[in-house]
Amino acid sequence: MTTLPPPPDILSPEFAADPYPAYRILREHYPLFHDPGTDSFLISRYEDVARAFRDPVFTSDNYEWQLEPAHGGRTLPQMSGREHSVRRALVAPALRGRELREKFLPVIERNARELIDAFRDAPEIDLVARFATRFPINVIVDMLGLDRADHDRFHGWYASVVGFLSNLAQDPETADAGRRAGRELAAYLLPVIQERRATPGDDLLSTLCTAEVEGTRMNDQDITSFVSLLLAAGGETTDKALAALFRNLLAHPDQLAAVRADRSLIPAAFAETLRYTPPVQMIMRQPAAEVTLSGGTVPAGATVTCLIGSANRDERHYSRPDTFHVLRGDLTPATAFSAAADHVAFALGRHFCVGALLAKTEVEVAVNQLLDAFPAMDFAEGRAPADAGVFTRGPERLRVRLVPGEDGVRAREA
Ligand code: HEM
Repeated sequence: MTTLPPPPDILSPEFAADPYPAYRILREHYPLFHDPGTDSFLISRYEDVARAFRDPVFTSDNYEWQLEPAHGGRTLPQMSGREHSVRRALVAPALRGRELREKFLPVIERNARELIDAFRDAPEIDLVARFATRFPINVIVDMLGLDRADHDRFHGWYASVVGFLSNLAQDPETADAGRRAGRELAAYLLPVIQERRATPGDDLLSTLCTAEVEGTRMNDQDITSFVSLLLAAGGETTDKALAALFRNLLAHPDQLAAVRADRSLIPAAFAETLRYTPPVQMIMRQPAAEVTLSGGTVPAGATVTCLIGSANRDERHYSRPDTFHVLRGDLTPATAFSAAADHVAFALGRHFCVGALLAKTEVEVAVNQLLDAFPAMDFAEGRAPADAGVFTRGPERLRVRLVPGEDGVRAREA
């Protein structure tokens, strides 16, 4: 007789240290499990998580309590129907296609270069502190046309807002800090919004202030909430993705060498990082009616926690899911940054990450520039650092030994 392993506790230190064995137990034995700690139903299989993202019966009404208090108003992830599509259309063009290539690519390239210039001659750095945490937020702040001198304040605000969103244990201090950050950011932005309404510039904040889609314009509070969302959604996620990508490649030197030699593999390396170590590990939903999934039925109005980190390692969907392999045959880099993706790191369906192509561009630029600047890189501490975090997850630090190229000579050309 086989004994059933006990259901894992997603608020336990063991889970925080390494959630992947627990995800496997959930997929295998408890594909639908009511978790008492978060009072939510955990779903862990790819098929169920993908359905929860695609099927409109799974609303995102949970963001009313999970997100709105920190952003100080309703934001995209919480919206549905026409309200959602109209708001999404205001920002989507800036984050893809020609506008991204022509207007924002130079901003992205400059920001990467400036950060790398500051450690070009260093023998060793923490890639998280010196690059990954700063780069995406600097890019968004520049795209919005805000003052980069205030980087540390933005960083503090978005960390508190993300803390609010990730507050699975409902810690009251974390909740207060999130609400306070939302208020402070709004107070900071209001005078800037008045300025941009009066004299719009070429930046994304001016676009938000002036854009009209089907006769709809955003009021001041809509805009402050939107900016708060962009900072939180686009900052920490890309930060963790970049750090995880380098950690995963450094841990697999043959794959790092392949990417270094053929830069067209960067999107595949990024897609595999998103599958293997997704920065957003879980997202919640609230079904409007009773739904049946693998393992049982969820009542209407319950909270469902979609375990992205588990779905992306589902052995029913991927071969050897616990192996990092840039060239795996069951993940398609060409669709990995669109709603047709065959991983769930950006969700799927109508809330599919609107910043996915911006994130891809940022990662391509960053990886290219870092590999060019440093022909040899290695773990400074001799081994890969572990990931940290339960809701969002990635390396907290990544000390890397660097061998700089001579006089900035590109390693590829040398
Ligand atoms: C590797 C980096 C990123 C990851 C892993 C990621 C992940 C996600 C996920 C999982 C969602 C779905 C949330 C839900 O359905 O509840 C989402 C939505 C969203 N993301 Fe990203 N994201 C990344 C980068 C970005 C960037 C760079 C931006 C833009 C600045 C951005 C802006 C957004 C926005 C505005 C939404 C809401 C879309 C909607 O509800 O229609 N993200 N992202």
